[in-house]
Amino acid sequence: MDKIIIEGKKPLSGSVPISGAKNAVLPIMTAALMGDGTSVITRVPDLRDTRTMIRLMEMVGAGCSYDKGRLEIDASTVHNPEAPYDMVKTMRASFYVLGPLLARFGKVKVSLPGGCAWGPRPVDFHLKGLEKLGAKITLESGYIIAEAKRLQGAEISFEFPSVGATGNIAMAAATAKGTTIIKNAAREPEIVQLCDYLNFMGANITGIGTTRISIDGVDQLHPSDIEVIPDRIEAGTFLMAGALMGEITVEDVNPKQLDSVLLKLKETGCQLSYTTNSVTIAPPETIQPVDMKTGVYPGFPTDLQAQWVALMTLSNGSAMITDTVYHDRFSHIPELNRFGANIKVDQNTAFVRGVDHLVGAPVMSTDIRASASLIIAGLVAKGKTEVSRIYHIDRGYEKIEDKFRSLGAVIHRINE
Ligand code: EPU
Repeated sequence: MDKIIIEGKKPLSGSVPISGAKNAVLPIMTAALMGDGTSVITRVPDLRDTRTMIRLMEMVGAGCSYDKGRLEIDASTVHNPEAPYDMVKTMRASFYVLGPLLARFGKVKVSLPGGCAWGPRPVDFHLKGLEKLGAKITLESGYIIAEAKRLQGAEISFEFPSVGATGNIAMAAATAKGTTIIKNAAREPEIVQLCDYLNFMGANITGIGTTRISIDGVDQLHPSDIEVIPDRIEAGTFLMAGALMGEITVEDVNPKQLDSVLLKLKETGCQLSYTTNSVTIAPPETIQPVDMKTGVYPGFPTDLQAQWVALMTLSNGSAMITDTVYHDRFSHIPELNRFGANIKVDQNTAFVRGVDHLVGAPVMSTDIRASASLIIAGLVAKGKTEVSRIYHIDRGYEKIEDKFRSLGAVIHRINE
C-alpha cells in the first residue's frame, strides 16, 4: 500500500492550479446517463472517485473514454440500471445513479450504502422524495429497488438541505410529468452546476441556487457538454496550508464560492488578495485562534473542518470547532494529537488549544478530508511524517503530493 512521506517545516511559496470539483463532476456524470447519446465533460479531475464512477457508468452499459481531463460518456447503450454493493460501498456518490436511471428506465436497483468512517449517513430523504414522485420503493437483500412507469411531479420538503437528495430528486424530476417543487433545497455550487447542466440537457429548472427549486418536467433530455467548476475544497485545503507555511496563490478558482472560508482565514490574521480567478494568502506572524461552525452553503463547508482543526493546532490560543452537518466527523483528532496537538472532542465540537509546534509522526488516513488535515500537519511539523492508507486522499485530491512539491514541500509517495 502507498504511503506519503513528508519532511516537514519547509517553507512553501508559489502558485498551484486547482482541479475540477469532485462533488460537481460525480452527479454530472450520472445526469449524462439521461441523454440518449454522447456528452462531453471537461476539467474532470483524475481521482479514484471519478475512476470508480467511470467503472460504474460502464457497468450500467455506457461507453466512456477519458483522457487528460476530458470525459466522453455515450449513454445510448445503457441497459443495466443497477449499482452493485461493491461500488456503493467504495463510493457513496454511486447512489447518484438512483434518480437518473429510475427516470430513464422506470426501474433501478441500487445497493443501500452502509455507514461510513465517521458514522451513519442515511439516505432516507432520497427515498422519501422519490416516493413522493410516485416511485414504489422496496428493500431486497440490501438493495433498494425503485420502480415507476413515469414519475409524477410533487412538492418535496427536506428536513435538512441535503446535497445528495437535492441532486437525486432534481435529476429524477427533470423528466417527471408535471411540476416538482423542492423546498429547503441545497444551494451548494456543485448542486447549482448540476441543475444548470440538466437545463443544458433540456430540463426546465428554475430557482437554482435558492432554497426553493422548481422543476417543470419535460419528456426527455438530450446529451450536452459542460466544463466542471473549480474544486473549492481543494482550494481551501491549499489556502490553509499557506496560512501556516508561506505565500501561496490558488489559481483557476471562483473566490466567491470561498467567501465563508476566506472570511475566517482573515480573522486568523492572514493577508489575502484576490483576482477574479485566484486567491493569494500570506501567513501572519502568529495564527489567531478562530472559532468555527460548519454549515450548509454559503456556510463554512464541513469538508474543510478537519483542515481548519489542523490550522488551529498552531494558533496562539483556544478555538472551538463545531460540525453541524456531520456530528461525528472527527476521526482526524486522535491522529492530529499524535503530532503533539492538544485537541479534545465533546459531542460535535472539537476544543483545540494551540501548541508551539508539532512533531512529525506516523499517522493513518481515515477519510478524504481527514487525510488532507494530516498532510497539512505533516508539512508544518518538525521532522518526518508518514501518512498511511492514502488511498483515501487519492479519492478526492488530484496529485496532491506533486502540487505541494511544486510549492517547495519535501513530500513523496512510496509503495510498500
Ligand atoms: N442526511 C440524512 N438523510 C439523507 C441525506 C442526508 O439524514 O437522506 C443528513 C446527513 O446524515 C448529514 C446531512 O444530512 O448529516 C447532510 O448530508 P448531505 O446529504 O448533504 O451529504 P451528501 O450528499 O451525502 C455531500 C458531499 C460530501 C459533503 C456533504 C455535505 C458528494 C459526493 N459528497 O454528501 O462530501 O461532506 O455533501 O456538504 O457531494 C467529501 O467530499 O469528502 C464529502 C464527504
